[in-house]
Amino acid sequence: MRSRFVAGNWKMNLSKPEGVALTSAIAEQKFNQQTEVVVCAPHIYLDELSNIAASNAQLHVGAQNCHFADKGAYTGEISAGQLKSVGVEYVILGHSERRTYFGETNGMLKDKVDAVFAEGLKVIFCCGEVLEERESGKQAEVVKVQLQEALGHLDASSFKDLVIAYEPVWAIGTGKTATSDQAQAMHKMIREWVAEQFGQATADAIHILYGGSCKPSNAAELFAQEDVDGGLIGGASLKAEDFLQIINA
Ligand code: PGA
Repeated sequence: MRSRFVAGNWKMNLSKPEGVALTSAIAEQKFNQQTEVVVCAPHIYLDELSNIAASNAQLHVGAQNCHFADKGAYTGEISAGQLKSVGVEYVILGHSERRTYFGETNGMLKDKVDAVFAEGLKVIFCCGEVLEERESGKQAEVVKVQLQEALGHLDASSFKDLVIAYEPVWAIGTGKTATSDQAQAMHKMIREWVAEQFGQATADAIHILYGGSCKPSNAAELFAQEDVDGGLIGGASLKAEDFLQIINA
């Protein structure tokens, strides 16, 4: 039995006082035993949020990106080691907004995954197809290439520190959610890919999250699918009440 895993991705939202209040409200909660929660916040809040999250063993703090080098002349960038030094445990990599607006390729993501693992942190790796690819029935093929090129080089032991988030790009921030059948089909395909490459035990253990307009009203149905282990939540993670309802769905 895999635990429930719910991560909030605030993106470029919330002021620091708002983020502190939200994280404090989450940290005060007592979650079901088999539940892990992560808040992925803007870099400049992570230090303080890590201290708040330390009061709840099931709550963790994540970043939304990092650089692939361990240090050096990369003005404006942040390394995995720097994130680790402020108590961060997870890093989201490969979010579609990073791929689309910042030109992140599967090759760059491979290097970022390695950089995060080299520091002993955990990766929430995002994959997913755009609408055109879905409409032409290419979603499985597209996602497999994303997985193969960014994660295919790993060894099975790294997978204990990896969470995969399937996020159909057409569902992100659009209010248009994948149906539970669509989500289950893709999650099953992803788990089969992991099994083929890294063995059945690795596939059985890995958390595969759904992301894309997941909200209190649809979380329970999505999370009830056999291969959906939780969610990566954008808009609905910005309000404690909504996020907690999703965590408890
Ligand atoms: P959304 O975003 O829940 O606002 O659709 C999900 C995500 O981008 O991770």
